[in-house]
Amino acid sequence: MANKLELTWFGKEEPIKIEPRLLIEQPELSNTGADPDTTNMLIHGDNLLALKALESKFAGQIKCIYIDPPYNIGAAFEHYDDNLEHSLWLSLIRPRLEILWSLLDKEAGSIWISIDDNEQAYMRVLCDELFGRHNFVAQIVWQKRYSRENREAIGDVHEYIIVYAKNKEIFKLQRNRLPMSEEQAKIYKNPNNDPRGRWRPVPMTAQGYRPNQMYPITAPGGAVHYPPAGRCWSTIESEFKKLLADGRIYFGKDNNSQPNTIRYLSEVPGVAPWTWWPSDEVGHTDSAKKEIMALFGNDNIFDTPKPETLLERIIHIASNPGDLVLDSFLGSGTTAAVAHKMGRHYIGIEMGNHAYTHCKVRLDKVIAGEDTGGVTKSAGWQGGGGYRFYELAPTLINEDAFGEAVINPDYDAAMLAAAVALHEGFTYRPDTSLFWKQSTGNENSYLFVTTRHLTGAFLDSIRNTMEEGEYLIIACRSYDGGLDKAYGNITIKKIPQMLLSRCEFGRENYNLNIVHPPVYDDEEVDPDE
Ligand SMILES: C[S@@+](CC[C@H](N)C(=O)[O-])C[C@H]1O[C@@H](n2cnc3c(N)ncnc32)[C@H](O)[C@@H]1O
Repeated sequence: MANKLELTWFGKEEPIKIEPRLLIEQPELSNTGADPDTTNMLIHGDNLLALKALESKFAGQIKCIYIDPPYNIGAAFEHYDDNLEHSLWLSLIRPRLEILWSLLDKEAGSIWISIDDNEQAYMRVLCDELFGRHNFVAQIVWQKRYSRENREAIGDVHEYIIVYAKNKEIFKLQRNRLPMSEEQAKIYKNPNNDPRGRWRPVPMTAQGYRPNQMYPITAPGGAVHYPPAGRCWSTIESEFKKLLADGRIYFGKDNNSQPNTIRYLSEVPGVAPWTWWPSDEVGHTDSAKKEIMALFGNDNIFDTPKPETLLERIIHIASNPGDLVLDSFLGSGTTAAVAHKMGRHYIGIEMGNHAYTHCKVRLDKVIAGEDTGGVTKSAGWQGGGGYRFYELAPTLINEDAFGEAVINPDYDAAMLAAAVALHEGFTYRPDTSLFWKQSTGNENSYLFVTTRHLTGAFLDSIRNTMEEGEYLIIACRSYDGGLDKAYGNITIKKIPQMLLSRCEFGRENYNLNIVHPPVYDDEEVDPDE
């Protein structure tokens, strides 16, 4: 059904054909000493290419995605630029959100997006369109400054975290509550040295009239109580008697007032998160900067870090130890560092050089137990664990001197087979006994990639080892005429031709993915363009 309401912009419908690249581990940059089996990933590269690379393996598996994209505030930070024409910014964000949504766990997965007033409204409408308005959970207000901002007409002291869930009902059932702060817990007292600890009285009434909750209650002092007008007792009489016998009813200091149930602090399951996140609970931009200075010194500051406590709260609400957390705008590495300390698995993607100078260095310190700041203490972190560092493979298809598409010579046979499998939606899983069973697709369906010329004799030798009901695609450089029709259960395709229509090769950076610049009404438009 067509959307009745739609946000449109110049270039929105511009199709993007992203090349699915391999991710190549860089063992010299990985840190696996303390955990050789680690699956944590730190990826250097444009996140659209990186997310595309992750898409087939991680679809439906990420419990919590947090992103903190450039807010488009017209600034050029030391480590990245944040100044795009609005339609370009939307075009940058949209395809990334689409892949991120597909990566989320189908049941309890949620995505948390930091944004400020520059693009918040547009981001929200875009998310409604991509994720479905019914999946919107909340728009959190984070108090980023604790001191007055006097430079503006109206000081800007907050930003937002927009939350959508894959399935709102399941998310609500599974999300974690927040531990009660001492401020919130201070109403729990223990004036009578109750061995069950601190408690507070909760009026034992509920709204409305329910006949079996309207009985008289006689206080120990002799007063007889009925529910106040318009209300009933919150429990039936038999339950009330059990609570009374268990010492869980309080009749006031005089032992003669209206009954209250006793709620013990130890039994409170925590508080439901709400949309107001003040800086004294989750940190502010200053505390975040201090964390960065403690890690990297005063000369190597990252301009726009988030405080670890902010990420701690998001990750706590949206995931449990062992779950997978992803941040595709990793910046200085905050999300990965906090996820690591909180025992989550994680994938972090950062395009800038600070993937090496900040994210890697920061995670190495976390693993070595040398990062004593941020949430280290609250998470009880002492060091350990690991991560693997990845780069995106170079483009698979190059142009030769005559403008012809050729396979990139950097690809060896195994890389080529894995890359073509990724393009074609197969799983690269080479069989140890049969050389042509390189990749599996659906059941009984295989892909064989070779740079050699395919002759009839070679094809027959493969055919002779195939079982009844097996289906094979062969991707090769060239083949004898007529071979493509030789066997019904073998399809032969030529590379690179088989791949060329599918995606755009050779592009390393998808930040400016609009081919034509926007044309404004007041500019002269050349009708031939
Ligand atoms: C606002 S910062 C994130 C800060 C981060 N939350 C932290 O605590 O340090 C945004 C980051 O996104 C990165 N970025 C921007 N475009 C990107 C892209 N296309 N692929 C990967 N990273 C990108 C920038 O280099 C920058 O480091």
